[in-house]
Amino acid sequence: MVVAQEGQAARIGVDILKKGGNAVDAAVAVGFALAVTYPRAGNLGGGGFMVIHRAGRGDVAIDYRETAPQAITDASFLDAKGNADPEKSRNSALAIGVPGTVAGLALAEEKYGSGRLTLKQLIAPAIALARNGFPVTPQTLLLPRPSRLARWPSSAKIFLQPNGTPLAPGARLVQPDLAQSLKAIAQGGPRAFYRGAIARKIAAAVRKADGVMTIDDLKNYRAVLRRPLHGRYRGYDIVAMPPPSSGGVELIEMLDILEGYDLARVDETQALFLMIEAMKRAYADRAVFLGDPGDVRNPVARLTSKSYAAKWRATIDPAHETPASKIRAGAMAGTEGRNTTHFSVVDRFGNAVSNTYTLNFNFGLGLVAEGTGILLNNELDDFAVKPGAPNAFGLTGFAANAPAGGKRPLSSMTPTIVLKHGKPFLVTGSPGGSHITTAVLQVIINVIDRGMSIADAVAAPRVHHQWTPDAVFVEPALSPAVVAALKARGYAVTVQRPSTSANSIEVTHKRIIGAADPRGGGALAAGY
Ligand code: DON
Repeated sequence: MVVAQEGQAARIGVDILKKGGNAVDAAVAVGFALAVTYPRAGNLGGGGFMVIHRAGRGDVAIDYRETAPQAITDASFLDAKGNADPEKSRNSALAIGVPGTVAGLALAEEKYGSGRLTLKQLIAPAIALARNGFPVTPQTLLLPRPSRLARWPSSAKIFLQPNGTPLAPGARLVQPDLAQSLKAIAQGGPRAFYRGAIARKIAAAVRKADGVMTIDDLKNYRAVLRRPLHGRYRGYDIVAMPPPSSGGVELIEMLDILEGYDLARVDETQALFLMIEAMKRAYADRAVFLGDPGDVRNPVARLTSKSYAAKWRATIDPAHETPASKIRAGAMAGTEGRNTTHFSVVDRFGNAVSNTYTLNFNFGLGLVAEGTGILLNNELDDFAVKPGAPNAFGLTGFAANAPAGGKRPLSSMTPTIVLKHGKPFLVTGSPGGSHITTAVLQVIINVIDRGMSIADAVAAPRVHHQWTPDAVFVEPALSPAVVAALKARGYAVTVQRPSTSANSIEVTHKRIIGAADPRGGGALAAGY
């Protein structure tokens, strides 16, 4: 079973499974395919995380998050007065992190692929789609602001019509340069990307746009194998991403806090109330403590311990909300545009892959490195560019997540596998910036505590709190009665369009059930 945000890529994954490939082979093929078919988030020029469960052989995590070029410092994203300058961290080439995707997917394949298929075979379907093109759907080039692509001629010539509007649904998106880049990677492996002509072209394009990435930055990039975090929740094992994602720490922290309540017995408003109170506390810890483990010591063991959760639980008044300002001192924030993508894979051998990767915004910076067809990210906005200054998702942070050369910005991406008796039970994750981790939380709680099917658990309206701003974000589909009840509890409630899309899989003893998130449209659960 493969559940991904775009159907052609999901089917490519299933073809690989049918050919005898394992879940990792399929995930790698899907990862390369989405870079062609879902260019706003699928990528070669971004980064992400993959969590893998290997049947009978434990769990591993691959960190292929982007790194800051060596020349980035804690002053890189400030204006002349020393204030955070979102133009620099979101809309300029300074925001481009050294891409990790090619290294991450290649490492996954080398270490955990079945060995029955070569990297070349896994990339071949993506090459064909890039070279031959495919008809654009309403989702392919969904662009809140075409101007992000229009400012770069190298991008406009691929994705836009001469009049500056995106290719219309039904038109063919053909990406010959991207096909060439993929072919070079298929033949030469990641070296072709990090040391060959592609690296030279990426560095040249970044510098031409006034960024600071060098070919040495690309040469020095490494994807990292990490031990996944393991939490326990009501007898299930939670396998999640460690830093530089904040997702696993926050998820386990929230679940540990919530384990002290009988969520199956309280009414919906009370269940949401308790979740929101747990969210605030975990997000406050994120802001203060977490950053790249290569640069700071993350107090992961403490934050994910049951005793620490009990201390937080003791601060929750079950009848009244705790103002965010009483939790930890923080700064206020706003929110902005977003896009990332998550896919889940389970094979017949009992392996599972949970993968989230991103360019940060829709189409990242919007810049295609001339001659490569590769869109580049604007991931470095995920640093706390100044202590307490919000990023595009309204997240604040401090020294632990300050920008520095070679450092990975803290992420919210939360690819997660839940095990039951040691075997995959749920595979889940989501895009949505700061809303990712709370979306994953709610999928898990909806299944385990609220007894929902995976389809209902994924579709159910979600709530979100991230400590700053001190507001509860709810999806428009949440029932008005529940919204009124939350307001009556004292919450400032903001209705916000969904940004998450939790493409998930549930494995029961009889079946593998795929749940494509209905939000956004276009997602597909494909199996055989
Ligand atoms: O790594 C992160 O947390 C963000 N760069 C993810 C951005 C995102 O999810 C945009 N999505 N819709």
